Amino acid sequence: MKNILEAKNLVKEYSQTQGFFSRTKNIIRALSHVSISIEKGKTLAVVGESGSGKSTLAKSLIKLIEVDDGSIYFEGVHLNSLTSAELKSTRRNIQMVFQDPYASLNPRMKIKDILEEPLIIHNIDEPSGRQKKIKQMIIRVGLEEDDLKKYPHEFSGGQRQRIGIARALILSPKLVICDEPVSALDVSVQAQIIQLLKSLQKEFELTYLFITHDLRIVRHIADRVFVMKEGELMEQGKTDIIFNNPKTAYTKELLTSIPGNRKLKRNK
Ligand SMILES: Nc1ncnc2c1ncn2[C@@H]1O[C@H](COP(=O)(O)OP(=O)(O)O)[C@@H](O)[C@H]1O
Ligand SMILES: [Mg+2]
Repeated sequence: MKNILEAKNLVKEYSQTQGFFSRTKNIIRALSHVSISIEKGKTLAVVGESGSGKSTLAKSLIKLIEVDDGSIYFEGVHLNSLTSAELKSTRRNIQMVFQDPYASLNPRMKIKDILEEPLIIHNIDEPSGRQKKIKQMIIRVGLEEDDLKKYPHEFSGGQRQRIGIARALILSPKLVICDEPVSALDVSVQAQIIQLLKSLQKEFELTYLFITHDLRIVRHIADRVFVMKEGELMEQGKTDIIFNNPKTAYTKELLTSIPGNRKLKRNK
């Protein structure tokens, strides 16, 4: 099968009540009939300005939030057709890396416990087997075995994101959804994390959905690009086609906002 995940016509609305006594509700349509296909073994970048619905899309795909309409298929199986036990085992195959690794790592847990938790939840291995997996993984993401005894606050932002990546990969998922994984990091550290993600993808044959508002990164990592605006798909296509021949004014705007990419604007 070529597509590992397909979603059709996703709709998600948030309602916000204004004021404590007010009955007026603001409806925000965060996803408006969005369909997306993620090709196995490839990297699909989802781009768009802040508030365009990227994180809502990511969370919908792994059922962290329920959509109001639409269907999601993982390896051809409709997620709503699964029992809760089947959904749990499917979830093992879809993991997420978040923007802010500090907020997503429990400050009171040692790294070894943070990495062991998903293994325990999914009943994987005996304690000794789990320890072996954890040690291999911490080294694979560029940290040391000694780091397992430490707490999240003892690490830099980049190191914490390495831990976030280790936690996502410890379950050997097939699809990893990265929601702005380097946006909170310094540019030099961003490059290292992108390199790490690329080498892990090769080694473990991962599929990535890579969400970012920063198009500089897209060129380095993505095979295809999916452009969102105000909850809708604007255009999608192969990375070089989106970069060299964007169809919509919105995508052109996103591209010209890349530092050092001003020439594009002047030449057109
Ligand atoms: N929990 C929520 N409650 C109400 N509105 C929300 C919630 N989460 C997101 N939104 C709104 O939905 C829209 C899309 O948000 P989001 O998916 O976070 O976009 P992005 O990740 O592209 O910045 C925005 O207008 C945002 O304010
Ligand atoms: Mg977001």
